[in-house]
Amino acid sequence: MWNKFVVRNNLKIFKNLNNYKLNNPQFNFHLNIRKMTSSSIVDQDILGLMKQERERQVRSLELIASENFTSSGVMKVLGSCFTNKYSEGLPGKRYYGGNEYIDQMELLCQQRALEAYRLSPSEWHVNCQSLSGSPANFQVMTGILKPGDVIMGLDLPCGGHLSHGYMVGDKKLTAPAIFFTSRSYQTNLETGWLDYDLIRERVLEHRPKLLICGGSAYPRDWDYSKFRDLADLVGAYLLCDMAHISGLVMAEKANDPFQYCDIVTTTTHKTMRGPRGALIFCRKDLSRIIDSAVFPCSQGGPHNNAMAGIATALYEGMQPEFREYTEQVIKNSQALATELIKMGYKLVTGGTENHLLLWDLRDVGITGSKMEKICDYVEITLNKNTVPGDKSAMTPGGVRIGTPAMTTRGFKEPEMVKLAGLLDRIVKKTVEIQSVSGKKLKDFEVGMKADEDLLKIKKEINEWVSQFFMPGLN
Ligand SMILES: Cc1ncc(COP(=O)(O)O)c(C=O)c1O
Repeated sequence: MWNKFVVRNNLKIFKNLNNYKLNNPQFNFHLNIRKMTSSSIVDQDILGLMKQERERQVRSLELIASENFTSSGVMKVLGSCFTNKYSEGLPGKRYYGGNEYIDQMELLCQQRALEAYRLSPSEWHVNCQSLSGSPANFQVMTGILKPGDVIMGLDLPCGGHLSHGYMVGDKKLTAPAIFFTSRSYQTNLETGWLDYDLIRERVLEHRPKLLICGGSAYPRDWDYSKFRDLADLVGAYLLCDMAHISGLVMAEKANDPFQYCDIVTTTTHKTMRGPRGALIFCRKDLSRIIDSAVFPCSQGGPHNNAMAGIATALYEGMQPEFREYTEQVIKNSQALATELIKMGYKLVTGGTENHLLLWDLRDVGITGSKMEKICDYVEITLNKNTVPGDKSAMTPGGVRIGTPAMTTRGFKEPEMVKLAGLLDRIVKKTVEIQSVSGKKLKDFEVGMKADEDLLKIKKEINEWVSQFFMPGLN
């Protein structure tokens, strides 16, 4: 009796609902919106590509020195409601309402950034809104300099970065070189080490207003006190771009730039293992200039989901496990360097004291481009790199190898020994294929694709690497 009543009543409700839907287009509109924005409609094209990218990452050997695998905690906030909110301005001083929780999140991110680098809030300020490393560097320049002022950083072919100002002859390739007068200093062209006497000469010759230290392919640490003396010599600001080594600095496994620099920038997605983004630290007296150089000068609303991801990465970075991880990153690059040297190969500066090494392949008779190409074919990702003494940046003589990503997946010294053996086999294969195909990259590629041993090496790599842990969400 009771059941019959329920069924009849439900049918009535259902009928009424259908009548309501038919007579009320507004209802359908809401239903459609819900359908469009819920997970019941999925973009199969993008999901398919995402799945393939995930599988590629799981089975490949990732040796790009600027890459890492971020945590599921970071990925979770990246794909969160933080992405919906506009929050131009700073905490407590926004252009829009509804920023109560965003304000708290940004303040927490700032507080963690200062804490992670052991900085006193009475002496240092940090801006967490800059969208990435290159814009962060340009924002610093636009804030503290006048157009045309001289900037000076490490030359790109010696391990510097495009965003420090790069020119090929008279050609100005990046915004810093277009809007400021870009000059550079070199490493010693024989040894690859920074030579502070040579830098001094360049500084005195060009008298920069901004001296930049930090780079993207330098396997040694930086002497910031020497850079401070050189900056003081000509009254320049000193900027350290610690993008590559910010995880190492956080874990106190590299020299501390904050003791000597006026401004320190970093990306957050390399050794820091966070989301793509940037931090700009500055001495307290520069905070207004830096904040307004970011917004409103060159950006609108910050990417709050990325900022929340940075806050998460900073939290993770302050845990003891991150220190252990960073120690292992360095041990791994040194273990790989030792093995390669034992095999008779040449490394720029003779080794490494950070997360990367620069392998000079000229003695072997192959270019960095060929090594990059053949490694990519067997699913090892690394990049060609100029080495000191290269005649042209177009045909770099070496490759850059970094250990942060594979260390995140659990590689330790024994895996580095195995990796060195694999790289040795690949170099020998490259020489063998080149001896038949000739030196042209196009011909070499044809020879490479016809080689069956390479397919066996690729399979071996895929089976080996797939066994290791991979963090993050799918
Ligand atoms: C030293 C250095 N600074 C800045 C950047 C630029 O960062 P982004 O790619 O986020 O613009 C990089 C990138 O590799 C870098 O190595």
